[in-house]
Amino acid sequence: MKKNKILVTGGLGFIGSHTVVELLKEGYEVVIIDDLSNTRMEVLEGIKAISGVGPEFVKLDLKEKEKVRAFFKEHSIDGVIHFAASKAVGESVEEPLKYYENNIATLVYLLQSMAENKVSNFIFSSSCTVYGQADELPITENAPVKKAESPYGNTKQIGEEIIQDTTKVMDLKAIALRYFNPIGAHESAHIGELPLGVPQNLIPFVTQTAAGIRKELSVFGDDYPTQDGTAVRDYIHVVDLAQAHICALQRLLEGKNQAKMEFFNVGTGKGSSVLEVIKAFEEANGTKVNYKIADRREGDITAAYADTELANKELGWHAKLGLKDALSSAWKWQLKQ
Ligand code: UD1
Repeated sequence: MKKNKILVTGGLGFIGSHTVVELLKEGYEVVIIDDLSNTRMEVLEGIKAISGVGPEFVKLDLKEKEKVRAFFKEHSIDGVIHFAASKAVGESVEEPLKYYENNIATLVYLLQSMAENKVSNFIFSSSCTVYGQADELPITENAPVKKAESPYGNTKQIGEEIIQDTTKVMDLKAIALRYFNPIGAHESAHIGELPLGVPQNLIPFVTQTAAGIRKELSVFGDDYPTQDGTAVRDYIHVVDLAQAHICALQRLLEGKNQAKMEFFNVGTGKGSSVLEVIKAFEEANGTKVNYKIADRREGDITAAYADTELANKELGWHAKLGLKDALSSAWKWQLKQ
């Protein structure tokens, strides 16, 4: 049987690279597009070291519409998993147009090229950020989408709408995966998260502090109405998250989807506070994390964790790894840097 050929945009990024590894493991043929704006070529070597095969790589900026069209003319693609996007919340507030161009214009070009070439299976990287502070926890897919706190968050909401509108009129089937907080690294430590500059997200800041690169972690707020006053999130191992993409892709390729566009939460279903994460990190790795309590970070919500029933039932997907697995893989990766 001919192997399906899958385009992974942003395939050298954090979640993209882990997804490429899982695709190769399942026997898919993979072609990666990445513009290298927020990653390095070594990631491709990491993927090869794990998989034993090198996926095809094309350095391409999706803003170059004609090049995207030419790419689709040259490649026979069966499905697209679209990660390529800018993702720094703070930067998106400073440079909104960069975000609307990088995340929205490129999505339009990609969908146009897919339509021209009759490529009809599409997986979109969305985020639990679309729910804002949800009124009920755990968060189901029926929770209302709330006004975005940042241009970054807005690009995920608008992106979902653009895709949904497109599925209504074209031969396109799509699944938006709404990620909770992806963390960790591949167990081989050949690939992981590569934050450029000072990390904005919790786990890379924790690992860099434990490694002595940062003096101290600031815990943003200890006066939230939670178990210990610190904010609660649903931290999901990136390898589990990568596998959710395989399940979603298979659903589309086998025509098992129940609507032209579907939405699934991808989390563990378990909420952990910042202090619980620090403690779990210290226990999992036998190392200390210096921290102090600081003011709340603007735009942060109190608590978010997923109701994963829909993904469990419809995608046949379950998070298999726990918080400590994720934190020890993140530490192993940090030590390799
Ligand atoms: C952030 C983004 C979210 C995006 C996600 C991608 C914001 C406000 N939100 O989510 O839109 O989809 O990353 O991964 O940036 N924390 C500290 N100290 C730190 C860093 C973080 O205490 O140095 C706390 C935060 O206040 C939060 C938790 O750790 O409670 C997780 O933070 P982070 O990893 O940045 O993720 P989110 O804010 O949930």
